[in-house]
Amino acid sequence: MIISASLMCADLTRLGEDIAALEAAGIDWLHFDIMDGQFVPNLTFGPDLIGNLRPVTKLPFDVHLMIEEPIRYLDRFREAGSDIIVVHAEACGHLQRTLAAIRDLGAKAGVALNPSTPLSALDYVLDDVDLVLLMTVNPGYAGQKLIPSTIPKIGELAERLGREERSIILQVDGNVSFENARLMAAQGANCFVAGSSSVFAAGLRRPEATRRLREAVEAVGATWRGPE
Ligand code: DX5
Ligand code: ZN
Repeated sequence: MIISASLMCADLTRLGEDIAALEAAGIDWLHFDIMDGQFVPNLTFGPDLIGNLRPVTKLPFDVHLMIEEPIRYLDRFREAGSDIIVVHAEACGHLQRTLAAIRDLGAKAGVALNPSTPLSALDYVLDDVDLVLLMTVNPGYAGQKLIPSTIPKIGELAERLGREERSIILQVDGNVSFENARLMAAQGANCFVAGSSSVFAAGLRRPEATRRLREAVEAVGATWRGPE
């Protein structure tokens, strides 16, 4: 089970301190939500922030690109220190080429699907990915409500990955609360993007919230039926 903390939900005035606290709490990855104001209505960070933070931690950087034609920026994000680069299937004119380019740069390649994008979008690219990200809200903003139809979709993908014996990480992103994380884990998700609904929830300390989320997903780990 991998927990990836979504830094757009951190205290941006104290990002270094938040990262140190999360690292001490045993977080697995750091998740960067990169938005371009086109693919999604919001704007967030660019590669310079990633480059600035790279020296402060050894944690893997999981970079979720919500940008049109991300192939234009892959080298910048890789040079800045991204370890896992995730692109949206909906944003790539040449998805396979984009995923292959990520691996050519030496990073792990991920493909993300919006809630309404069918799993068939993955049909001809599963050989090219290390991770599939299923969005459980429409990308663009933190603090949104889960879209219920995305829950059985997780199970359908986990079943397919298991049947095809693929070692692909199944990541979920959007309203991963303690309660929703249990439902997602039960369907076969094994990588959880933790934002304002859990690790960064108001009134909770980061280490406690991190432990609580891990306990929630590990409690249902026994029923997990995805690949290793
Ligand atoms: C949404 C982002 C998420 C978001 C998750 O577009 O991709 O990573 O920050 O945070 P919450 O828990 O607020 O949904
Ligand atoms: Zn994200």
